[in-house]
Amino acid sequence: MFSTTKKIGILGGGQLGKMLCLAAAEWDFQTHTLDATPEYPAGRVSAAFTAGDFSNYDDVLAFGSDMDVLTIEIEHVNTDALRVLQNQGKTVHPHPDALDTIKDKGLQKSFYLDRDIPTARFELFDDAKALRKAVRSGKWALPLVQKTRTAGYDGKGVAILRDAGDMENKCLAGPCLVEELVPVRTELAVIAARNEAGDVRVYPAVEMDFHPEANLVEFLLCPARISALEAAEAEALAERVIRSFDICGLLAVEMFITADGQLLVNEVAPRPHNSGHHTIDSAATSQFQQHLRAICNLPLGATDQLMPAVMLNLLGEAGHQGPVEYEGVEDCLAIEGVYVHLYGKAETKPFRKMGHVTITADTAEKAIEKATFVKQTLKVKAASASLVAG
Ligand SMILES: Nc1ncnc2c1ncn2[C@@H]1O[C@H](COP(=O)(O)OP(=O)(O)O)[C@@H](O)[C@H]1O
Ligand SMILES: [Mg+2]
Repeated sequence: MFSTTKKIGILGGGQLGKMLCLAAAEWDFQTHTLDATPEYPAGRVSAAFTAGDFSNYDDVLAFGSDMDVLTIEIEHVNTDALRVLQNQGKTVHPHPDALDTIKDKGLQKSFYLDRDIPTARFELFDDAKALRKAVRSGKWALPLVQKTRTAGYDGKGVAILRDAGDMENKCLAGPCLVEELVPVRTELAVIAARNEAGDVRVYPAVEMDFHPEANLVEFLLCPARISALEAAEAEALAERVIRSFDICGLLAVEMFITADGQLLVNEVAPRPHNSGHHTIDSAATSQFQQHLRAICNLPLGATDQLMPAVMLNLLGEAGHQGPVEYEGVEDCLAIEGVYVHLYGKAETKPFRKMGHVTITADTAEKAIEKATFVKQTLKVKAASASLVAG
């Protein structure tokens, strides 16, 4: 039911939480955010802010007891407390069991295997020692991809192991997931939304290009440069995955199209996603409003992409650390179809996500051309640049 007095509690106060709060404000929804400090991006725009730890049982329970609807902007939250809140009658989306599966990459991959959802071949290992043994015995051949099962994000917790030297020096510690290194032709993300009534809407597939050094998406194009058939298959797969998880809210499904045209699920995120930021300025419904519609069981919005768009993450320049300064903003704002979003982080550091820019045009080529200018012009620097490693 539509109610402006409903209290929506958001676990996590980063930029996704900030943009969710901004979308909620359009409908007078009251957002309450839980994170370490109101200095974080959501702090200034959330109707109310509670300082606490979203991975701590007591903090989540106390925070949630005063809410009507609970949601997340980060997966690594305390799900035991969320289960108690759900049993007390609170609406919790995404549901805690799905969160538990998703936040452990090992459980997540096993989930796909059990349901015949196409994904890269994998195996779980207890530690680097067991993995080295499997490589020595010839069970696994190099190159391969090693991922920590929990707590990885933005490429941290992913190692590509190519040779014996990497096996010695680059192996990650702790329980891990090992995958074949997929020959990726195109990397995609497809965001699906589902509400309690079971309706599903899927956004057009977006194409992700990675920053080679930081392993972060830094350039995203919508619609993706894939065939209409591939786009339809990717969107159908995203719908199948959100239905399999039985999630209400958003589910961003990261996929690979391999060199020989196979579609594989890489991983999912049950929340607004970096690959959906362009929807604010270029889709019929922004991903943030869609998430609110989905978790409040409102009719889902249209997901049409109104025009081609490129999204650039604004990453802190290498070598710059300290109070942030944005260079070249005016030159970018002078161009039609350039939309700058800053997250409100006071300090920059190398490759930190400080904001994003959406660039629209009548054709993908023109959008890419303008985005190339923005990328060269808009720089995230430290006010008094101090050289740091990296
Ligand atoms: N099996 C794989 N084969 C090839 N590239 C991969 C594979 N797994 C991950 N990658 C690359 O590494 C990136 C980060 O891996 P991902 O599992 O998405 O972790 P993160 O949680 O950091 O996003 C992917 O977006 C993709 O570019
Ligand atoms: Mg990923």
